[in-house]
Order: sequence, then C-alpha cells, then structure tokens
Amino acid sequence: MTSFPRDFVWGAATAAHQVEGNNINSDLWVLEHCKPTLFEEPSLDACDHYHRFSDDIRLLASVGLNCYRFSVEWARIEPEEGHFSISELDHYRRVLACCHENKITPMVTFYHFSSPRWFAARGGWEKRDAGDLFVRYCERSAKHLGDLISLASTFNEPNLPQLLRWVSNVEIPFTTVMRMSRQATKALGGNKFGCFFLGDADRLQHHMIAAHHRALAALKSGPGAYPVGVNVSLQDEQAVGPASKRDQKCAQVYDPWIAAGGHSDFLGIQVYTRCRVNKKGDMGPEHGVEVTQMGYEFWPDALEVCLRYAADRVKVPIYITESGIATDNDARRVEYIQRSLEGALRAIASGIDVRGYIHWSLLDNFEWIFGYRPKFGLVAVDRTTQQRTIKPSAHYLGEIARHNRMPHPASVG
Ligand code: BGC
Repeated sequence: MTSFPRDFVWGAATAAHQVEGNNINSDLWVLEHCKPTLFEEPSLDACDHYHRFSDDIRLLASVGLNCYRFSVEWARIEPEEGHFSISELDHYRRVLACCHENKITPMVTFYHFSSPRWFAARGGWEKRDAGDLFVRYCERSAKHLGDLISLASTFNEPNLPQLLRWVSNVEIPFTTVMRMSRQATKALGGNKFGCFFLGDADRLQHHMIAAHHRALAALKSGPGAYPVGVNVSLQDEQAVGPASKRDQKCAQVYDPWIAAGGHSDFLGIQVYTRCRVNKKGDMGPEHGVEVTQMGYEFWPDALEVCLRYAADRVKVPIYITESGIATDNDARRVEYIQRSLEGALRAIASGIDVRGYIHWSLLDNFEWIFGYRPKFGLVAVDRTTQQRTIKPSAHYLGEIARHNRMPHPASVG
C-alpha cells in the first residue's frame, strides 16, 4: 500500500504568536521582555504573517497542500476582559476566506499557548473560573467565524505542562523562572502572573479538561457545522529496564488528554521524537543517535508508534496535527517526512482511521524560549526582508499531497 485514504487532508501549521508578529497584548510578550527572561530573544515582528497571510496561504496552496492549520489569538480577539474586537474577528474572517478562495481547508486552533495579558494578570488557568472565560471567548469567536471553519481544536498540546515535568533535554533555570514571574506580576499589577508554561500542572490540567468539554459545545453553538477536537503532544515512550516509570509517565502526561480527545469529534496527535525512560525518569538522547536542533533525537518512527498508542485508546478519527523537525539541513527534513509517512501508512494499513497529516511548520518561525534559531519550516523566512523561500522539502511533501501517495513504494509490513 502506497496510497493514503481518499479525502486525506494534507497541510502545514502555524500558531499566531509564532508567526503573526507584535502580539503585544499577550502574556508571552510580557515574559519575553522581562529581565531576566527565559526567552533567548523576543518575538517582535515574527514572520509578519498578520499582514502577509494571503501570500503565505497562496504559497501553501502552490506547493500542493490542501489544508492550513493556524490559531486565532485570544489576546487580539478579547483585548480586555469582556470586550471583543470586531475588527480582529474580521481579520480572522479574512484569513478563513482566503483559505477558501485558494481551496484550502482551514483548521483553526482556539488556544496555542498564549493568553491575553489580563487573563494572566488574574492568575491564568490555575483560577477556578478560567474555563468560563475561555468558553465565552470560544462562543463569541465561533459566532463570528463558524460559517467559514472546516475543522477546529480547542487546545494545542494542553498536556505540555505535564510533559515539562519530565523532560531532561531542556534545563529550565529555576531562579530565572521565579524572577521572570515576579517581574511579570509586578508589570501587570496582578496577584500572581499565571502563564500556561508555569504554575501547578495538575490544577491547570483539571481546569483545562473541564474547559475543553464545555468549549466543544460552545464552538458548535454558532453557525457552521465542523468537527472539533483537541491536539495532544505524544512521544514514543520506550522503557529501559522495568516499565513502571514509563507507564507512570504515560498515565500522567498522555492518557487524560487522549481520553478527552476520545470524547470529541477527533483526536489530533503531535509527534516529534521518542524518549527513553528508566527507573529514574527521562534519560535524554542515546549516545550516537542524531539529534535535531531541539536537542532531542531524530526519530521519525515515533509517529507510527504514537498512532497505535492513541488508536488503542480512542474510537474517534485521528489527525496528525503536527509532525516535523528542526534542522538547517533540508535533506534531513525530507527523510524525516518520508519515514514518518511510511509509518503512518503502516498504521493506516492495519486499520487505524487517520484522516490527515499536517506538517509543523509552514514557516521558519518563533520557537518559543529558543527564539528564531530552530528551523522547522517548509519555507525559509528572511526576517530582515520577510522574503519567503520555498525549501525542497515543501515540494517533496506537496508532491505526495498532490498524488495522495508516496513517491517510492513504501515498505508496508
Ligand atoms: C508546538 C509548536 C512548536 C512545535 C515545535 C509543538 O510543541 O505546538 O508550537 O513550535 O511543537 O517545537
């Protein structure tokens, strides 16, 4: 089998804060400008996608892709608590309309890590009523945008705070975090600055899972009829020695959100690598294995394993809402895509209902605390001129998308 199912969706993804530029009303903008800060550099103009979205969407269509996954920015849509900006909602209507004009299926994420400043200043997701505010924003946005949406997700990787409790390849300097949070709290004059990345992960998860279920209904309350899911971060977790610690990690980091996806219209999975876990916890990269610019292993086989892990736990369709690699060597990206998709095909051949593959990312962009250094894009961006240059990997993926099949016979066992 080398062909993908009929109507398979082929796309590339971005997130508002990472590409739009000048997301100045967001909590992350505040953190980026604290001294000290965890961020290597601030996002500033990013890829100026806010103004250049139509060129970028045309570019995505021109290589042969048929889906654009992007996020709408809460900090723009609700700049002050309870005040919704019609002009920003209209902006996202134009983005959605542009997708349709280019025969691109828009997949909208309603929360991709960033929150409005006012939300952070009142304590963020740790606050008991945080979900009420998120649901209201979803409902208001869906009312304005719903007729143009084709697929939607409530949250992007809401399990990340749980995952961060385990990672060993990123050293998070605790004192910098504390000083940065104190400064942000002071800058906004709130009680305790509540950002998605910081804070009590269990409390946050509890509130976000409840908010997800309520947001499903809110997103369906407006015009349009589109499937709504949640996009969960997964890794191929490999036990070294006894499996108990690995199983504990999976139960803590993945299973609650996979279950939430199972009670939605679809589950989105986002996969980049594997992780070896021994009795002490995460072990970091194995000696001799290639690592990407993110410091974790080049491990495209993770996608198939994660598809099987998810499919064992849910009955709903699965979309691969992110998969990708940070590298300066585009030939490695081509190989990563090829091997990931071969794995996806094996999973599909064994009966798993996979509906689409969306590559992270369309553009080289702002990779959170790592700034602009890691290159995840199918398209390079010169941040001085904002000129876009299509990489060979974009054409490679576009060819697969156009023919809905792998270019060479894939080994499907
Ligand atoms: C996130 C993206 C991020 C990407 C690469 C995912 O965790 O959804 O925002 O840029 O992975 O690290």
